Amino acid sequence: MIRIDILTVVPDLLDSPLGHSIIGRARAKGIADVVVHNIRDYATDRHRRVDDYAFGGDAGMVMMIEPVFRIIDDLKSRRSYDEVIYTSPDGTRFGQKEANRLSTLGNIMILCGHYKGVDHRIREHLITKEISIGDYVLTGGELAAAVICDAVIRLLPGAMGDESSALTDSFQDGLLAPPVYTRPAEFNGWKTPEILLQGNTAAIEQWKFEQSVERTQRLRPDLLQ
Ligand code: ADE
Repeated sequence: MIRIDILTVVPDLLDSPLGHSIIGRARAKGIADVVVHNIRDYATDRHRRVDDYAFGGDAGMVMMIEPVFRIIDDLKSRRSYDEVIYTSPDGTRFGQKEANRLSTLGNIMILCGHYKGVDHRIREHLITKEISIGDYVLTGGELAAAVICDAVIRLLPGAMGDESSALTDSFQDGLLAPPVYTRPAEFNGWKTPEILLQGNTAAIEQWKFEQSVERTQRLRPDLLQ
């Protein structure tokens, strides 16, 4: 079973994305455990402060070192972690390869960046991996953490109804997935490709492969380089 601890200053943001669909089911089935922690519970002052002004006069608040250090230290004293991830737009771009790798690990911690980010000493000394989900800036790292959890957990054996379906995702073989159809075979005069209705498995596989290659060439030529 994989265990993912998420450290955030806005835990409520994660309730819904982690409670539904594949993640919710995987949690219920004991395939994955996702535990959300409120960094504020580790604040040291009576106002439970977790952010402070940046040194150097820049605008914006910075996540303070003490509460973040304390929560990471507390969790590490309970179990060992394979990765301590920090979500930030200046991290390494997340992709299917990294999702696959993370899905093989045991314990993962994800620290969600917020405000202007966390005191840099946390990143230098405690973080083992910095991840960005794309070249745009979110209000916080929580949605990025939810994206990472979703991409990782759906890969775990038993997480999806049809075991084979994660293998046929876009990107798993470096190609986009072929188009899919379901009943009715014809709607509004719009037809399902004839080949999918004829039951010739080898021909269907060949068609799907050709569709994948054509779609990748047309929509994501960068993937073929
Ligand atoms: N926090 C803010 N923007 C982010 C991004 N693009 N990826 C990961 N974490 C973020």
